[in-house]
Amino acid sequence: MAANDARQQKFNIEVLIRSRYPIIYVVTWEEKRVIDALAEIGGRLGKKIYTWSCLTGLINHGLAGHPSPKAGNSASRDPITALKDAAEFKESALFVFKDFHPFLACNNMAIIRGLREIAQDFTTSFKTVILLGPLLNLPPDLEKDVTVVDFPLPGTAELNALLENAARELAANPKLRLDLSGDAREEILKAAQGLTLAEAESVFAKSLVVHGRLGVEQIPDILAEKRQIIRKSGLLDYCDAEVRLADVGGLENLKDWLVKRKLAFSDKAQGFGLPPPRGVLILGVQGCGKSLCAKAVSALWNLPLLRLDIGRIFNSLVGGSEENIRRAISIAEGVAPCILWVDEIDKAFGGMGGSSTDSGTSQRVLGSFLTWLAEKRSSVFVAATANNVASLPPELLRKGRFDEIFFVDLPDDGERRNIISIHLQRRGRQPGNFDLSGLAGAAAGFSGAEMEQAVVAGMFDAFYDGGREVATPDILRAIIDTVPLSRTMEEEIERLRNWCQTRARPASSPEREAMAASRLADLPYVEGELL
Ligand SMILES: Nc1ncnc2c1ncn2[C@@H]1O[C@H](COP(=O)(O)OP(=O)(O)O)[C@@H](O)[C@H]1O
Ligand SMILES: [Mg+2]
Repeated sequence: MAANDARQQKFNIEVLIRSRYPIIYVVTWEEKRVIDALAEIGGRLGKKIYTWSCLTGLINHGLAGHPSPKAGNSASRDPITALKDAAEFKESALFVFKDFHPFLACNNMAIIRGLREIAQDFTTSFKTVILLGPLLNLPPDLEKDVTVVDFPLPGTAELNALLENAARELAANPKLRLDLSGDAREEILKAAQGLTLAEAESVFAKSLVVHGRLGVEQIPDILAEKRQIIRKSGLLDYCDAEVRLADVGGLENLKDWLVKRKLAFSDKAQGFGLPPPRGVLILGVQGCGKSLCAKAVSALWNLPLLRLDIGRIFNSLVGGSEENIRRAISIAEGVAPCILWVDEIDKAFGGMGGSSTDSGTSQRVLGSFLTWLAEKRSSVFVAATANNVASLPPELLRKGRFDEIFFVDLPDDGERRNIISIHLQRRGRQPGNFDLSGLAGAAAGFSGAEMEQAVVAGMFDAFYDGGREVATPDILRAIIDTVPLSRTMEEEIERLRNWCQTRARPASSPEREAMAASRLADLPYVEGELL
């Protein structure tokens, strides 16, 4: 899929050049790949290609060291001179400016003006300026003059070509072995998805140097490399898929929905005519398993889990907020198929529109995120959670964003039994040895997190009491000693429940949903009786 995207993007760039878009900004980590693509396009369209960097100035691409368009003009190392040279050039050409973003970030008016003039003049010429760099820095003055294009990471076809190359080179060397038999090729390619070509090349080479071979056994090394790269971005965490669906008590509706979509990204599902799922928004009471469910999707679907820390998106130390969200999305798309977990989305976007000076930025970041969510065709499944719905921006809830919105309520009696039993089991205890009904009854109004705490507290008591085995009364005492949040926050929870009733589907058991539905169906009758 990504391969198609790259091919598609090359085609898009060619269309922009042919339609005389004057300035194209290609955001990519892969300078070489893009320049190769531009050289191909330039060759086809009979255009000269000049590349610029702050070290070389403007030089004729392919004729290294041959300074042009003004012979011997080393002054073109200065970006303003280079822009002037490009503006005065008379023939059909592509001017590729490498790593130009720092010059745009410093808001140098001469550079901005230079580009604006180019934007006006080049629309009637056969020249195009292409700004190339890993980061997007676009001063607002230039927003209308510059067309921004992302160049996606290499897809399977390009990575496969890399493997083929390696195979050819290694054929003569009996000491190094490339084992691509069976499913190995496909699995290696899948693991390498999300790396740039240069990174994939290095990790393949490293495997060959260290192990003398490259085969399925090296997949963990490739994945480790990928983790590194994702971490380095500073925006996403690559989480371990440690939560199974069986670790989640209750929430049968939500679990059922997730189980049904387990193979949603498979070729078979697509062949069946099913659209790839976009995502799910899980709203509800704190401590009742929202984050737990988001994590469990990863193990259930066997897909990597990337956690997007929205707080870091807004952290100016990492980069501009809008650039950060673009980068995070592009990394996730590179790793696709994957789960993008956006925890507590309300914290980032809640309360927007206030008088805070940053609300414009939040709005734009939210806008980019929602546009992507609505239009995305990549296999990135978004699992978002929120505790506080009152301040959620309504755009987030609009149809076509998430496939489904679930409401997680406090667990009912059966769910509480289930949750207590899960936490006993997780700590090596036999749930059958406990009075689960009694405990669940006493824990009415407790969240999953509070029941877990009660199990742990009961175990501590037993341990302190001479290390004897924990029993029902220990846990019961811990439950009685706890004032659940639902008691202190009764009104908030009731408000949340009312709000969600018409906007979200209950995450709990189908019977509960049926009950809620019948309550609604009964309403006119009740009203009639009252009248
Ligand atoms: N439905 C549940 N089943 C099992 N454990 C639960 C459940 N809900 C909460 N817990 C326990 O409480 C912890 C916190 O729950 P979490 O999913 O983070 O709550 P939130 O809904 O606030 O995201 C979990 O890690 C888990 O141990
Ligand atoms: Mg949570």
